[in-house]
Amino acid sequence: MKTLPAIELKPYSDADFPVLQGQNSPEMTAYLGGPETDEKLLERHQKYVKFSDTGAEHMYVIWVEGQTAGSAGYWEKEWNDMTVWEAGWGVLPAFQGRGIAVAAVYALFEKARKDGRHRFMHAYPKIENAASNALCRKTGFELMGECDFEYPKGVQIRCNDWRIDLLGHDNP
Ligand SMILES: CC(C)(COP(=O)(O)OP(=O)(O)OC[C@H]1O[C@@H](n2cnc3c(N)ncnc32)[C@H](O)[C@@H]1OP(=O)(O)O)[C@@H](O)C(=O)NCCC(=O)NCCS
Repeated sequence: MKTLPAIELKPYSDADFPVLQGQNSPEMTAYLGGPETDEKLLERHQKYVKFSDTGAEHMYVIWVEGQTAGSAGYWEKEWNDMTVWEAGWGVLPAFQGRGIAVAAVYALFEKARKDGRHRFMHAYPKIENAASNALCRKTGFELMGECDFEYPKGVQIRCNDWRIDLLGHDNP
């Protein structure tokens, strides 16, 4: 297995708006409904800044060699009559293809496992999102099947439902 890059997850802060702006390109949002308006993006930023104050929602920037490479986080979701963690991630194009997302997802597992609030973490990449589905497979998520999903609000999409049992998994 190739060596993973050294990354750090830092709680998303008010100074991190540029990373969201970087992620709001047509390329980065191809499977996420397309770029958001400036107003929506600012709303998202303000929401993420507040995440740090709660135990139910967590957003981080991925820090690599003194630079911000993207973001990753997890938050509570009701799924099949259970509260689970839903995870989400984005690595900026200049940093892609180096295993940064894999390292960040392992770091998310570690944080959620320590947190201990929920046993299962899910991810719902769109069926066509090859990179994100490969990431789930690679990091040990189990494919539960396809599902309908609403994202962004009001838009129905077809996704894969990936799940990891945080108690039954050790990072390599
Ligand atoms: C998904 C994403 C985070 C992956 O980031 P990354 O840092 O380039 O991923 P990694 O380098 O850690 O690679 C993870 C695995 O995915 C595979 N992969 C990456 N891009 C791929 C692609 N376009 N098609 C198929 N597999 C791909 C890699 O080969 C790697 O597997 P390997 O080590 O067995 O080769 C990045 O593509 C992204 O930000 N996409 C846009 C945002 C997005 O769609 N977020 C997810 C919403 S559900």
